[in-house]
Amino acid sequence: MAEAEAPNLDNIQGDIWPGLTKKYQIFWFFQITDASAFKLSLGKLLDDKVITTSADALGHRKEIHEVKTSQPGTLHELAAVNIAFSFKGMQKLDKNKDRFVDDPFRKGMEADMVNEGRDKIEEWMDEFKAKNGGVDGVVLVCGTETKVRKTTKELAEKYFSSTQGIKHIITLDGRERPEENAKHEHFGFLDAISQPRLTGFDKKCEKGDGNYQYMCRPGRIIIGHDGDMNNEPKSQHPPWAKDGSYLVIRKLKQYVPEFNRYLETEAPKLNFTEDQLGARLVGRWKSGAPVELHPNADCPKDARMNEFNYDVNDHKNCPFASHMRKTKPRSIVSNRDMNDIMRRGIPYGPEVGINETNTEQDRGLMFTCYQSSIGNGFQFLKRSWINLDTFPADKTEYTGGTNPGQDAIVGQLVKKPQREKHKRLTTSLVDGKGQNTTTSFLPFIQSNGGDYFFSPSLKLLEELGGNNKRKRSDSCCCGPSIVYSGKYETGIFGRNEVIWAVFPKGRREGAPLHVLTTWTAPVGKEKVPLSFLYNAIDSGDRTFATRGIDKNGSHDYWFEGSVSEDGTGLGLRMSDSCGDECARYVLSLVTEDT
Ligand code: HEM
Repeated sequence: MAEAEAPNLDNIQGDIWPGLTKKYQIFWFFQITDASAFKLSLGKLLDDKVITTSADALGHRKEIHEVKTSQPGTLHELAAVNIAFSFKGMQKLDKNKDRFVDDPFRKGMEADMVNEGRDKIEEWMDEFKAKNGGVDGVVLVCGTETKVRKTTKELAEKYFSSTQGIKHIITLDGRERPEENAKHEHFGFLDAISQPRLTGFDKKCEKGDGNYQYMCRPGRIIIGHDGDMNNEPKSQHPPWAKDGSYLVIRKLKQYVPEFNRYLETEAPKLNFTEDQLGARLVGRWKSGAPVELHPNADCPKDARMNEFNYDVNDHKNCPFASHMRKTKPRSIVSNRDMNDIMRRGIPYGPEVGINETNTEQDRGLMFTCYQSSIGNGFQFLKRSWINLDTFPADKTEYTGGTNPGQDAIVGQLVKKPQREKHKRLTTSLVDGKGQNTTTSFLPFIQSNGGDYFFSPSLKLLEELGGNNKRKRSDSCCCGPSIVYSGKYETGIFGRNEVIWAVFPKGRREGAPLHVLTTWTAPVGKEKVPLSFLYNAIDSGDRTFATRGIDKNGSHDYWFEGSVSEDGTGLGLRMSDSCGDECARYVLSLVTEDT
């Protein structure tokens, strides 16, 4: 087999691998209202090196480690930033970039999961619903709370304001649980233990060190690498998708008091303690120790143990339908890394109140995962394993005649259960006396929606932000601004208008163009001077195009322009949103040194 190519850690966003450190995280969802303006802002964001790459994220880990060792107890403040786009968002940025081979991504989560028959649209947050426009993208800001909040505010002002082609839709956040519950999700179990280890990225672990895991081909998670299913000739990912990954974000509300009450009332009936029953539903004890290895009592020293397997025909210790076994059946599936996902979620919402006997406050998991195919990853896990009570197949002989059941932790009911047996989730298990039996309950989670995103490589982000062209022009000529000025020539308005066009830096080719128009408009009896700033980008052959944005957000015009052969003249055409011409301008070179 050919030697795997060394990964370019400066080209991959850090949350994909190795993961951004998250004591607190903001998910800042947005729509793109003006692609040209947004692209300019994206270009600036990249120039300012705001996006945290895999290499940066490794650096953060090192910094945290150094502070922990040199100043124990000190919190190392940091914030890391990643960005991703929905299919709709990608299309707005570049219509030619629609060759995504992943069907669920093209459809979006609503069409995929609501129609699948489990998610109820009335339980979804309005902001994620397609009828309200949905979301085009998300900015992820992760780190420590103070720094993350400050950074998000700065980003919103500097790069993501309404004049930069962005409409903010909603901010959601997640926070590590306090003190001894840190790293545990709200049901109380240690999370993020088993993760795929990527060949060429992660260190191979030695058998016997407890953490041993087979290695996962990196292409299962990161597009364009060995193991990317869609690298097969017929369904090839386009080359520009390389080093990107599909990102699933899903807000899952957890019913914690209800889960605890179920354990309290059902455990004695099954001859278990509450902890023993909980461990069977999850597949690990609260400490993290696998129930397959420790069926009777927790064993905190094995909290992060991964070196174990299940016997395909036995579920005496760990039920077939436990969350762990449903989402990663280990020995049952021969192609072991085929459905791997990289989980990067974070809990959200407050701790359960002392008197909260039924869920009153919204809390749960901002479930987040990366994969090179949603069809093989998240969607497959939900549809074919988690929600299917017959998975794993052909096990009735070992369960006492019943199906294994749905995933005990994240299983969902069909929307309109026709049959009695579909009105509750049912899990087969072996009780404390060694008898095959079943237990049933209402789901402990509810999906409040989310979406499917694509997390592009840094190279693709630069291309989308127009930086390749800018960088080219900057590098061959880092000269001063070029300024044109001129007057209205023909059209239906704008006689008093003076117009300035500025290429902020360097040559005209590839440089962004700022068009500033100033004119006097009657407002009541007064005449008020107005000025509008339009940002255009190079559309090739010395021509420029933009959608107009003004500070009030009330004008929706397009500017197109072209520079004369000798560079001394610039013609501009202004049209309305229907494409009808409003005015033409002829501008002359004023200075190359402003
Ligand atoms: C509120 C919702 C959820 C909770 C509370 C939850 C909790 C947990 C816990 C406690 C573990 C064991 C710790 C570990 O191995 O990392 C785990 C593992 C895992 N979960 Fe979840 N999870 C949730 C949702 C999901 C969803 C929606 C999926 C996939 C669609 C998923 C996929 C997995 C996978 C793949 C593993 C690792 C299994 C293994 O490798 O053995 N989880 N989860």
